[in-house]
Amino acid sequence: MKLQASTEEAIKRWERFAEEYAETHTEHGDTHKEVLLNPVLFKLLGDIKGKRILDAGCGEGYLSRKLAKAGAEVTAVDYAKRMLEIANR
Ligand SMILES: C[S@@+](CC[C@H](N)C(=O)[O-])C[C@H]1O[C@@H](n2cnc3c(N)ncnc32)[C@H](O)[C@@H]1O
Repeated sequence: MKLQASTEEAIKRWERFAEEYAETHTEHGDTHKEVLLNPVLFKLLGDIKGKRILDAGCGEGYLSRKLAKAGAEVTAVDYAKRMLEIANR
């Protein structure tokens, strides 16, 4: 039994799921990210003004936007084109 999807299949799945995924996110991400992840992440990162940060697998891009608003120079990448379209929008 093949348990792991190929990269191509994974990309297709993220492409198909992109709109639905984005709808669950506000400017702070989803509730889990807003309440649990973001406070810890930003505390660990400290002052990020002027720092260069790679958001690998940025999805719809909420984190990239938050990092940029906090003064970082952010490079956001994702292998799902639809996610990047939404992030750019
Ligand atoms: C669970 S989502 C998380 C998105 C975002 N980081 C967030 O927290 O909202 C995972 C994202 O990573 C992307 N991704 C997964 N593996 C990747 C890879 N190897 N290269 C580029 N993007 C990848 C998917 O397309 C998807 O948008």
